[in-house]
Amino acid sequence: VMGHVSLVGAGPGDPALLTRKAVMRLRAADLVLYDALVGERVLRLARRAQRFFVGKRAGRQALSQTAIHAVMIRAAKRGRRVVRLKGGDPFVFGRGGEEAIALGAAGVPFDIVPGISSAVAAPALAGIPVTHRGLASAFLVVSGHDEDAFAASIGQLAPNGLTLVVLMGVGRRAPLAARLIDRGWSRETPAAIVADASLPQQQVWRGTLDDLASDGARLEGDGPATIVIGAVAALALITVDAQVATAERARRRS
Ligand SMILES: C[S@@+](CC[C@H](N)C(=O)[O-])C[C@H]1O[C@@H](n2cnc3c(N)ncnc32)[C@H](O)[C@@H]1O
Repeated sequence: VMGHVSLVGAGPGDPALLTRKAVMRLRAADLVLYDALVGERVLRLARRAQRFFVGKRAGRQALSQTAIHAVMIRAAKRGRRVVRLKGGDPFVFGRGGEEAIALGAAGVPFDIVPGISSAVAAPALAGIPVTHRGLASAFLVVSGHDEDAFAASIGQLAPNGLTLVVLMGVGRRAPLAARLIDRGWSRETPAAIVADASLPQQQVWRGTLDDLASDGARLEGDGPATIVIGAVAALALITVDAQVATAERARRRS
């Protein structure tokens, strides 16, 4: 019998933020191919599966994209239930589209299980709504991986016109911020960096675009981080979250 492949989004890291369908697919899987940002607590749900790390470690790809396609296709044709597990959502800077095309071309049945993207979850977990009436009526998610591609993406925007969410840009935050200032964005634009969102070691830095440009943002560790730039970054609605956690603990004690 023919197996199948599920392209599954694992969310930002906390297993409680997996979808029910992601959990279902993981529990049924024979084989899981996972990326660097997927944690042990999520992988453990794939009780009966063989697991293979196929992501990037120390800048090197464990397996090429073509090799990943070949492994998925071969396993599915041998009747195995394959989960291709990616951080966040599989179609947000996750190469899920390429994999779906390869699977389709090979005649392998596949489905997509969307995940909570860090593009919205990281800001949200720092108390930052990416849109907010009167502050931002749109948000743009861009990669900061390539400075020229970043410059092209922001080139057409009216300065300070929307919320900018930058993935894969924390290591290049100073030159990226400088590009925005060159394009006319105000130096006082609020900015935030959310690292390891949803994980126990989550960190939030807050400041301005000028701080970013002058390399003033300090972070510990080298966990994945999302940058938020725009008026909404000055909002910090985290007390709500902290109050719920405190109220919950108090109830459990009584
Ligand atoms: C290759 S992209 C993949 C994005 C993923 N598909 C998603 O939808 O979240 C990796 C980037 O996502 C962001 N990221 C992933 N997990 C994160 C987390 N827990 N906290 C903050 N940012 C995160 C970082 O900007 C990181 O460089």
